[in-house]
Amino acid sequence: MKVLVVGNGGREHALAWKLLQSKQVEQVFCVPGNGGTASLALCQNIPLAVDDFEGIGKYALNSGINLVVVGPEVPLAKGITDYLNNQGLKVFGPDRAGAQIEASKAWAKALMQEAGIPTAKAAVFTEAAAAKSYVKAQGAPIVVKADGLAAGKGVTVAETVEQAHSAIEAIFQGQFGSAGEFVVIEECLIGQEVSVLALTDGLTIRPLLPAQDHKRIGEGDTGENTGGMGAYAPAPIATPEIMARVQTEVLERAIATLKSKGIDYRGVLYAGLMIAPNGEFKVLEFNCRFGDPETQVILPLLETPLEELILACVEQRLGEMPPIAWKPGAAATVVAAAGGYPGEYAKGQVITGTEKATAAGVTVFHAGTTLNQQQEIVTAGGRVLNVTGTGANFDDAIAQAYTGLESIHFPGMYYRRDIGHRVKGQ
Ligand code: AMP
Ligand code: GLY
Repeated sequence: MKVLVVGNGGREHALAWKLLQSKQVEQVFCVPGNGGTASLALCQNIPLAVDDFEGIGKYALNSGINLVVVGPEVPLAKGITDYLNNQGLKVFGPDRAGAQIEASKAWAKALMQEAGIPTAKAAVFTEAAAAKSYVKAQGAPIVVKADGLAAGKGVTVAETVEQAHSAIEAIFQGQFGSAGEFVVIEECLIGQEVSVLALTDGLTIRPLLPAQDHKRIGEGDTGENTGGMGAYAPAPIATPEIMARVQTEVLERAIATLKSKGIDYRGVLYAGLMIAPNGEFKVLEFNCRFGDPETQVILPLLETPLEELILACVEQRLGEMPPIAWKPGAAATVVAAAGGYPGEYAKGQVITGTEKATAAGVTVFHAGTTLNQQQEIVTAGGRVLNVTGTGANFDDAIAQAYTGLESIHFPGMYYRRDIGHRVKGQ
């Protein structure tokens, strides 16, 4: 099989790495890929944009690609699956209609309400005055969300009514472009977040191991929100009892309601949950794709060949597959970021020591990296590397990741030293 992976992050490096572990996969192409996928044996980067559907379609047809796996939400929301399916290509990832579950928070909220999925109480507004008076009536803390895709920056958890009002104004003044035509105001939930990613072919739903990421830049989960500074799996907070309820009360209800709207959803359905201290949970958001960095800790534990599962979803025969097999133990990933992230940071810094870390058994997934003209690996983004350890338990997995980090250097490198603090000793 020849597989084309769309995207250029740590998630796509992990997908390419995992796909290449299967005997059935002879080659992987990444559009556009990064310094990590460029260095992976049997993997080739193709310099096309993720939303250049015509270019991707032509390339895939000319190169005999058997399967396209889409990483990020933006091409899914723009309809990459619809376009490539029309060209006769097999694509893993929902069509444009299905991707609305992530691309419009108002649409997703209406779906959850219709389906009876537990979620925070919310109201949708199209203009600032009504949104502000609603916030005043509800009081703080309260959550303000831009409706559309905003690269993870469209949500404000407001501690005061004033903060919520500023967030509403920023959204309606166009801070997020057309993503801000609607605003969703939501009750503020407390508890621990967990990501449940499930594979589905539109009929059958198979959850992957639950994962938890650390979103804040600072140790002790403090400071600004980021795209994620580290993650671990399987997250013990999502107990078997909770996972069984997520299956029936969240995933099955979502797929049934999508189906009732004529949406044949094939791909990853990712439920971001908040689990309250009493064990009750609510859905914060749905995503229409693999999580990043959750994928980097889920795939190292996957035993079943990934391309078999993905093809079974695309060909709607997931129900015929045996249960997904997992390796025992745990995985943890620590993000090495560029100093200054999530604010301003330098690019083009030479990265050394990844081979040494890899030789010691650590898996280094590249996120924001590229090859420079001298063929050196250099930084090209805020989150640069996902240094991933596995082991019999969390302590071993976390220790392996941090040992790997000791070998790796680039100017300004920053990482949190407390990834997995909630699962220490487990
Ligand atoms: P979302 O993109 O909707 O998941 O929001 C991004 C992040 O904002 C989540 O991962 C949470 O950390 C936070 N968040 C979203 N909705 C809520 C809520 N209702 N209560 C508390 N925190 C929230
Ligand atoms: N790790 C959060 C996300 O992928 O949306």
